[in-house]
Amino acid sequence: MSSSRVAVVTGSNKGIGFSIVKSLAKNFDGVVYLTARNEDLGLKAVKDLENLGLSVQFHQLDIDDQESIDKFAKYIKEKYNGLDILVNNAAIAYHHRENDQTSEIERVENTIRINFTATLNLCNALFPLLRPHARVVNVSSRAGFLSNIKDHKWIERISSKIFTIDETVELLKDFIQLSKTGQHVDLVSNCYAMSKIGINLLTKAQQVLFDKDPRQDIVVSSCTPGYCATDMTSYTGPLTPDQGAETPVYLALLHKNWNGPKGEFWADKEYLDWKNIENKQKNN
Ligand SMILES: NC(=O)c1ccc[n+]([C@@H]2O[C@H](COP(=O)([O-])OP(=O)(O)OC[C@H]3O[C@@H](n4cnc5c(N)ncnc54)[C@H](OP(=O)(O)O)[C@@H]3O)[C@@H](O)[C@H]2O)c1
Repeated sequence: MSSSRVAVVTGSNKGIGFSIVKSLAKNFDGVVYLTARNEDLGLKAVKDLENLGLSVQFHQLDIDDQESIDKFAKYIKEKYNGLDILVNNAAIAYHHRENDQTSEIERVENTIRINFTATLNLCNALFPLLRPHARVVNVSSRAGFLSNIKDHKWIERISSKIFTIDETVELLKDFIQLSKTGQHVDLVSNCYAMSKIGINLLTKAQQVLFDKDPRQDIVVSSCTPGYCATDMTSYTGPLTPDQGAETPVYLALLHKNWNGPKGEFWADKEYLDWKNIENKQKNN
């Protein structure tokens, strides 16, 4: 068994995830895992980094496949029996393309399932392996600002208290239920935004549990990378993926015995109150 420190980044064959791996390979004192659901794309990305003189490890990981999650968790447990950094970067966003036959209900279900439920499932499998001082970064978005909720009862529901994980799961189930009759459109601008609100709530709920955990100083944060030029945005964002990686990497490398904000949302390396409805921005 290796005693190395270990970092894992999901969905890192391209885009911001790839840049996060690149930066961790330069700045983290340990082994960095580039993971991808498609093995060929993942191995190609590893080669691209090797061509830059950077060495990282690869493992297949589809966060939407419980078997793949379990295999990966078993591998990390057997090889390292520990994990120091987990960056939950993998996500999807639908675009309005004329030839896309995906129904709105499917879009809602797929987006919530991959961006929220699959991320939670991976956390459930990997959190038992986190070592003291571990850092977890849940890549979110400014789309996940509470100000993107249009219904005042839902604003009240979300802002009234700190949610538990179960309550967050329940909230998203209610959202999916509303999508079956098309009422979800009165709630929020799009389902991607709802999935990221879920991630922000989850982050706080996870921190509440870490605060009571015997493993000391585990910090989980959510953040926006900013609006970046990637496949997800059809290359419309003004920032490069490398620039987008800066805040997630900053949070992944927070120093030992961190006394700053925990379980909170960050943008441009600064804490931001995502529940403040004065904070308005839909896209990133
Ligand atoms: N780009 C922006 O402006 C922006 C703004 C705010 C937040 N974000 C967030 O930043 C993160 C990265 O976005 P990006 O712009 O880099 O997107 P991207 O270029 O579309 O990359 C997304 C990555 O996630 C992977 N992925 C999707 N589903 C997966 C699954 N089930 N299992 C494992 N990996 C999966 C994709 O793999 P494949 O290649 O196999 O599809 C890809 O590697 C996301 O969380 C996104 O919501 C992006």
